[in-house]
Amino acid sequence: NFICRTGHPISDRGAMESPFNADVLKGKVALVTGGGSGIGFEISTQFGRHGAAVAIMGRRRQVLDSAVAALRSEGIRAIGLEGDVRKKEDAARVLEETFKHFGKLDILVNGAAGNFLASPEDLSPNAFRTVIEIDSVGTYTMCHEALKYLKKGGQGKGPAKGGLILNISATLHYTASWYQIHVSAAKAAVDSITRSLALEWGTDYDIRVNGIAPGPIGDTPGMRKLAPEEMQNKYNEHTRPLYKLGERWDIAMAAIYLASEAGKYVNGTTLVVDGGLWLSHPRH
Ligand code: HXC
Repeated sequence: NFICRTGHPISDRGAMESPFNADVLKGKVALVTGGGSGIGFEISTQFGRHGAAVAIMGRRRQVLDSAVAALRSEGIRAIGLEGDVRKKEDAARVLEETFKHFGKLDILVNGAAGNFLASPEDLSPNAFRTVIEIDSVGTYTMCHEALKYLKKGGQGKGPAKGGLILNISATLHYTASWYQIHVSAAKAAVDSITRSLALEWGTDYDIRVNGIAPGPIGDTPGMRKLAPEEMQNKYNEHTRPLYKLGERWDIAMAAIYLASEAGKYVNGTTLVVDGGLWLSHPRH
């Protein structure tokens, strides 16, 4: 059993102690879309354990409620806000409620994503559009609606005057992945949005915009959907980083690095956290 530096016992299987001090995000307010489950929930939890207050946005009330209960049980200041990133009015309302509740917004994490396996023969244009609308347009909508709050976020600690955006991406589109034409296109757009906003909002508002591209991460809705259990077990047999399944913890630690003062000179990059897997593109 591992104990976090905040003193909270960590019950997650495979979770490890954080190498960061418990106050690296002290006083920060984060909004995490898709924060009720998987990687988004882990980022929310670790942000909270490192001093941040967290608002999580998602479509399912029940998922939000149990996520918020888990966060609060650790003493983390957390709220759950129902909304769909595809709807501009939901994005605006959730951001406003976050601001009203916590008084500011320093960090926006775009974690909400849609995914399923489908060959192009079986993927209707509407199905393609659906994933683009969640991942790419949803990310842009949240960024666009968050700007007025993030402009003033991040003040009071460190040299940056504006806040931070973190877009959760993937590595599928660096090469090509079977049955993922929709997600590959959507995440390529997300990476492009990351670079464009980093340039424009970094220059104009001191807002840093970065991404994280996770490899295959165990215990996530994405893996449960995309890889059969045998494949996940096969990954786990390996000791070499290249073929090992990552943990949600790995992604959350990258997020803390980028969100903390340690990442103050990092802007417009998408940090690949996959053990180097995409370089080899091995057949499984
Ligand atoms: C083919 C499908 C389909 C499937 C939906 N569609 N599921 N087509 N195969 N399995 C089609 C529908 O037929 C429809 O097209 C269109 O998509 C919209 O479907 P709806 O059900 O109306 O949409 P909606 O209810 O909005 O749901 C969209 C959803 C979403 C994308 C299915 O609910 C979803 O995926 N939620 C899960 C979230 C998730 O898994 N998150 C983790 C992401 S992991 P037609 O033409 O019939 O109207 C991730 C990692 C990527 O992103 C990288 C991994 C390495």
